[in-house]
Amino acid sequence: MKVIVSKDYESLSKKAAVLVQSQLMWKPDSVLGLATGSTPVGLYQELIKLYQQGDIDFSEITSFNLDEYLGLPMDDQQSYYSFMRENLFDHINIREDHIHIPNGMAEDFKSECLNYESSISSHGGIDLQILGIGHNGHIGFNEPNVEFEAKTHIVSLDEETIEANKRFFDSIEDVPKKAISMGIKTIMKSKKIILMASGEGKADIISQLVKDDIKPDLPASVLHLHENVIILIDEAAASKL
Ligand code: GLP
Repeated sequence: MKVIVSKDYESLSKKAAVLVQSQLMWKPDSVLGLATGSTPVGLYQELIKLYQQGDIDFSEITSFNLDEYLGLPMDDQQSYYSFMRENLFDHINIREDHIHIPNGMAEDFKSECLNYESSISSHGGIDLQILGIGHNGHIGFNEPNVEFEAKTHIVSLDEETIEANKRFFDSIEDVPKKAISMGIKTIMKSKKIILMASGEGKADIISQLVKDDIKPDLPASVLHLHENVIILIDEAAASKL
């Protein structure tokens, strides 16, 4: 686990963009694992800038998003599908048929999970996975005490996660209580992982992640077992290290 501390959110986002850019230089048809939440928004803005300058090309990439809320139609403003369109996909040259986001409105969730997992495998697995981290240590929507062996599955969101995500909804009642998420095992199969965190609010969980042992009540701690992980944080998120 390599920890890189950047001065602030802007420089953190720029560094993450450089890592994605170099990944695409090595392998233009890379499979990218993408995350939602506020943390990667700066990275996505930097990638859009690079694209507009002609310095990055997404025409051959394939993307798989980590997760999606259950019960929100794709065109709902709060769906992760809408989030990705607005914050990245509508502004770059990714091919429409190369975008994968779990379907939170699937008729058969079991098949949806199995198909998502096998689609990742049939594309050769994820080359570079971008992660944020929840205040409770979740990655994707893998909440504390998730099984480390879990593949793409249906999860019930923790109270803390519902509370944290209510800022995007009109009221807490509107926050979906369940989601479909890549599992820890799916994430761990990625060839490279970048976990990003910014701000003082993440300082506690980052300190636990870096200093503590691997334990199921801190899902991100499993990353200690991965050979190619960068923890990319700003000074505020690093303030308790
Ligand atoms: C959500 C997402 C996670 C994300 C986390 C942190 O619950 N499912 O993938 O990492 O929130 O979000 P933020 O970056 O807004 O703190």
